[in-house]
Amino acid sequence: MGKIVVAFDLYGTLLSTESIAKELSSHFGQEKATSIATVWRKYQLEYTWRLNSMNKYDDFSKVTRNSLLHALAEHGLRLEDPALDKLMLAYDSLSTFPDVNPALKRLKDNSNVECVVFSNGTNAMVTNSVHGSEDLNSSIFKGIISIDDVKKYKPAPEAYFHLAEKMGKKNEMDKMWLVSGNPFDVTGSRTVGMQAAWVDRAGNGWQDRLGIGPTVIVKSLEEVADAVEKHAKSMA
Ligand code: LAC
Repeated sequence: MGKIVVAFDLYGTLLSTESIAKELSSHFGQEKATSIATVWRKYQLEYTWRLNSMNKYDDFSKVTRNSLLHALAEHGLRLEDPALDKLMLAYDSLSTFPDVNPALKRLKDNSNVECVVFSNGTNAMVTNSVHGSEDLNSSIFKGIISIDDVKKYKPAPEAYFHLAEKMGKKNEMDKMWLVSGNPFDVTGSRTVGMQAAWVDRAGNGWQDRLGIGPTVIVKSLEEVADAVEKHAKSMA
């Protein structure tokens, strides 16, 4: 039997985009920074969905920069190019959530599992984020899969089929897990037949009503290894 693929979403799952607020606070103070960071993330995702809908594509660095400009404008603020460049660089040194490294260590001990990073980010952006994050233990990842190769953002089916193609699982979508804190990503992966673990760190429960929910809900990434094992046993 082939290995089970566990594909980790990056931004908002392994790496916290909230640490961006720190860099923003050096310009605008803590309160505004938190608000800008939230609106920035909202437009970053909205732009990807709008581009998908229009059959258009700008890469994730461009989307990230433009959505920052949008968030700033909405707050009646602007920044000069050097400050913008510095904020984009902050994306290369995001902090991990505290449950990430213990979870990765547990998965490393499971020889039936192959872990990859699966992200909207370009290869360069994801590589920089993964290797530039001081605390992320990246040695477990067999690879980085970027949707930039198919130019369709999550949750378009093409994004997940690209992952399957890369991992040799085209006819075994159900042998691939997505691990994500982003409900839209969970729904997208489940819609094309994958398994998904939704990371509910805030403990709010699944509220999304658009489609199919996660295979499992975990409060911490540390529960993922057990959930994947338990599910494999129940399918055997
Ligand atoms: C990613 C987006 C969803 O890493 O943040 O793919």
